[in-house]
Amino acid sequence: MPASISADLTAAVRLLQSGQLVAFPTETVYGLGADAADPAAVARIFAAKGRPADHPLIVHLPGAAYLDQWARDIPPSAWELAEAFWPGPLTLILARAPAVPYAVTGGQETVGVRVPAHPLALALLRAYAQAGGGRHGMCGIAAPSANRFGRISPTDAAHVHQELGDAVALVLDGGACEVGIESTILDLSRNGMPPRLLRPGHITPEQIGSVIGERPELPEGMQADGIPRVSGSLDGHYAPRTAMRLAASGDLPRAIGEAQSQGKRCGLLLRGRLAPPPVHSLRRLPDAPEGYARGLYAALRELDQAGNDVILVEAVPAGPDWAAVADRLRRAARGAGTV
Ligand code: TXA
Ligand code: MG
Repeated sequence: MPASISADLTAAVRLLQSGQLVAFPTETVYGLGADAADPAAVARIFAAKGRPADHPLIVHLPGAAYLDQWARDIPPSAWELAEAFWPGPLTLILARAPAVPYAVTGGQETVGVRVPAHPLALALLRAYAQAGGGRHGMCGIAAPSANRFGRISPTDAAHVHQELGDAVALVLDGGACEVGIESTILDLSRNGMPPRLLRPGHITPEQIGSVIGERPELPEGMQADGIPRVSGSLDGHYAPRTAMRLAASGDLPRAIGEAQSQGKRCGLLLRGRLAPPPVHSLRRLPDAPEGYARGLYAALRELDQAGNDVILVEAVPAGPDWAAVADRLRRAARGAGTV
């Protein structure tokens, strides 16, 4: 490990142990971290993000061996999933262990935990464990995405600086995030009930089902094609300040024409090869779910900052492969211009 990184890690561990915030890369998005066992440190996360205090945070662990510190009544399926997917972009919701502060769980009796796969996140968590962890010897870093509440998640260190400025003591720079959208969240805490997907992500219900022999229930209102049927499940989130609309490929030329005839500057986010009329700004993402997800938030952020009046996004195909991306796009469009 280069000397500068190990110096950063040492500084990061000290800051965490003294109740300060440290932003760090994960394979999904950058996280805004604090000692998860220290309610005052966790309160700083909510203050820096402007996030309501009843929203629970995900606790990042150095490895599955630390699960017992944070959760109780852990079902066999949790160990199987941890074995199959950790380190990786899967968050498990489990019954909280008694020592877990309610500040982290948003007052709930459950806790979200995951072991992130980014080498720098793992190095930080392991250094933290080696240094004795946080309060009461507990070793978990609570970290939501390192953006202001409701805004676009950061997928590189510069985005974190843009979002949070001086509110964070240190930002560890691990380059661009590989996955690009937030972890899959699976609720395993519902005693005797089937596991339920709470947030789609890179790890799919099919993959989960193939490990535990049971397909998780989809989020309320979401069908297998990833298209929500209940508008209430569409909270605005991950959103640019600029208005944003989704349009099917065939409808785009008309949507662009209409916006331009109203004197609006159009930002366009395309996948694939469509040849658009001239617009104020254009970004193109790969026409495959993984590559699209990797570039999505950076592209939205750029289009948001390019002086467009509206961002038009070429809709992605229906179907399970695109479900996680479709979820983020719909939420972004819903929250756009409102935060
Ligand atoms: O990929 C990720 O998960 C990123 C990186 C940094 O790990 N983190 C992230 O955190 O997306 P955040 O706070 O932006 O989103 C956490 C989500 C929220 O929707 C929250 O409601 C849910 O996790 N969550 C956390 N704990 C929960 C719990 N006990 N029960 C239900 N949902 C929970
Ligand atoms: Mg977030």
